[in-house]
Amino acid sequence: MTTGTVLITGANRGIGRAVAAELRRRGLDVVLTARDPEQARAAAEELDTRWTDLDITDPDSVARAVRTVGAPDILLCNAGVLLDAGTEPLAVPLERVERTLRVNLLGTWRVLQEFVPAMVRRGSGHALLVSSGTTAEFGGRLFPGTPGYSLSKSALNGLTTMLAATTESTGVRVNAVNPGRVRTRMMPGPHQSPEEAARYIADVATQPHGGPTGRFFTAHSSTSQE
Ligand SMILES: NC(=O)c1ccc[n+]([C@@H]2O[C@H](COP(=O)([O-])OP(=O)(O)OC[C@H]3O[C@@H](n4cnc5c(N)ncnc54)[C@H](OP(=O)(O)O)[C@@H]3O)[C@@H](O)[C@H]2O)c1
Repeated sequence: MTTGTVLITGANRGIGRAVAAELRRRGLDVVLTARDPEQARAAAEELDTRWTDLDITDPDSVARAVRTVGAPDILLCNAGVLLDAGTEPLAVPLERVERTLRVNLLGTWRVLQEFVPAMVRRGSGHALLVSSGTTAEFGGRLFPGTPGYSLSKSALNGLTTMLAATTESTGVRVNAVNPGRVRTRMMPGPHQSPEEAARYIADVATQPHGGPTGRFFTAHSSTSQE
């Protein structure tokens, strides 16, 4: 798919912004979103895209975004937080886990609930959820060094398979993607640049209509700490 509209959450910086730039370069109509309207506007001006403010934890904000944008051809659920690095499951402050789940799981779920029904009514679209290598794909052992984050992304993988089953035969696909470890504010150490990760995510996001659904795409064998 090299035409159409893509809406990206959390695209003012990091991976989301790099994917916005990559998909714009490939000719898609990009709607760059961020929770801070000023940051959304500034990034969109720089990348020559459309924009709207969108805080995935705020129901009014999400409802407003769907009214403004309608059903995109590609919905890239990228926004996320990592708040519990360096902790472990028996000691992590549960307040941090709660905040993590509120953004990574419930926020993403809210965005999907608002946008996917309109995509189903149209009979086409691709919802792609940015997951992580901390989840051991669709099963297995979770990375315990970021317990709330690992659980939140593992839950997103579960949501991916549930929604893929729910939307089967509607023309809408739902997949998860692990970009590997990427050098961003969330994860300053890795070698991989956001631009490299963006090329992979863009390839997965733009697979043609009729492509796979309910799949976990992973960029390369990464260690379990993203
Ligand atoms: N970096 C890695 O190694 C890596 C690996 C695997 C997966 N990921 C995933 O990739 C995604 C992007 O991460 P990143 O590395 O690019 O991190 P990042 O630079 O910290 O970017 C996170 C983005 O999410 C946004 N965000 C946070 N809470 C939000 C909310 N309530 N509503 C809307 N946007 C919100 C942030 O906006 P603000 O600027 O307003 O905070 C920011 O734009 C995340 O889902 C992350 O879990 C990252």
